[in-house]
Amino acid sequence: MDKLIIRGGKRLFGSIEIGGAKNAAVAILPATIMASSGKAIIDNIPEIEDVQCIERIIEGLGCKISRVNNTVTVDSTTLTSTDANTEDVRKMRASYYLIGALLGRFKKARVELPGGCPIGVRPIDQHIKGFEALGAKVTVEHGTVSVEADRLIGTNIYFDVVSVGATINVMLAASLAEGTTILENAAKEPHIVDVANFLNSMGANIKGAGTDVIRITGVSELKGCNYSVIPDQIEAGTYMIACAACGGEVTVNNVIPKHLESISAKLIEMGAEVIEDGDSVTVKSNGDLKGVNIKTLPYPGFPTDVQQPMSTLLTVAKGKSIINESIWESRFKHVDELKKMGANIKVESRIAIIEGVEKLTGARVKATDLRAGAAMVIAGLIAEGVTEVTSIEHIDRGYPHIENKFKKLGADIERVTE
Ligand code: EPU
Repeated sequence: MDKLIIRGGKRLFGSIEIGGAKNAAVAILPATIMASSGKAIIDNIPEIEDVQCIERIIEGLGCKISRVNNTVTVDSTTLTSTDANTEDVRKMRASYYLIGALLGRFKKARVELPGGCPIGVRPIDQHIKGFEALGAKVTVEHGTVSVEADRLIGTNIYFDVVSVGATINVMLAASLAEGTTILENAAKEPHIVDVANFLNSMGANIKGAGTDVIRITGVSELKGCNYSVIPDQIEAGTYMIACAACGGEVTVNNVIPKHLESISAKLIEMGAEVIEDGDSVTVKSNGDLKGVNIKTLPYPGFPTDVQQPMSTLLTVAKGKSIINESIWESRFKHVDELKKMGANIKVESRIAIIEGVEKLTGARVKATDLRAGAAMVIAGLIAEGVTEVTSIEHIDRGYPHIENKFKKLGADIERVTE
């Protein structure tokens, strides 16, 4: 088991490159299996455990995969199985995209229910509602979702909740349905647009992604293509927040500043400087910031996935801050760890009330989930003394080479194997 040892108190200076978006990559890779001819060559795939996990899963179904640096080539013409039930499938959330992808291409799939971060109940009723509306028979038995259809027929689907996963999953299946599907109350996250662009590059006909109404005209087959994944807004946001917390001046390169607006706006409200320049954003901070209130919301609102890193920053901001986590009901598991470091936080259901303290002090703390892990790393970077962050396999699921990137910015951080 690896852990991170951080000697806090250093300001951060310099620039780093942001990788491809995890939540786009883990949807695009399953989508590659919908190609019945040609190869999908995808660039800017981040080097993270969740990506390796999905690669192993689709390889297990019979696809051929190769990687050169950040470019992954998938040949799905050799795919033989529509049955996904390995440990990897159970481990990660995004394995549910295999249901939509296999249903689209083969009109059937059996996929074990997905795992993922323990951040709340994670139902897939909206995914199922969409598949059924397209004409599939869906059963959930012994922890496995089975879907089957003679034909998939396009239709109108109104989602009851705004769901990233359901929007993408139904979009996958509908791409190879007969006729037109209209998804209403669709999620608008940048990675929804990215997956739609990828599918269109494979020959699909999807319009309106990025708005809450997506129109998909089914096509009879999809083929391989060349594509490049968008930058990871959450990884970028995490480093921006770290700079604001530690003080210093950090430029995050290879980003789409528009995707970061809700994060930039909060940092500016707190007193940091944020400068956009083409495909980079620079944060300048003297570390002396004031508390703010945050409510997590679907895009373009403040992303739930940076709520935990942001909460660390708020522990040392002046005055009181209130976080309302409206997406996940258990996304405050990191709070007990922050308290070990001297943070003053009260959690009542989905609300966290944070009273800023003068400083955090180093301690042995745990990454309870992926973004909680990033939150604890930032806590270690600002704390006085030494912090050990354990269970960092959670962090490796979503942040490529986190210790190297922080080291490049001047942090004193190292990975050791226990
Ligand atoms: N929901 C339902 N029914 C459904 C689907 C979702 O009630 O069928 C509810 C959920 O319980 C939640 C809300 O809708 O309250 C939003 O869930 P969504 O489906 O949007 O989340 P997801 O697709 O499971 C993705 C990301 C998460 C991110 C959320 C919200 C992936 C693999 N995961 O999850 O990312 O928090 O969207 O933006 O794309 C992370 O990267 O750390 C992470 C957890």
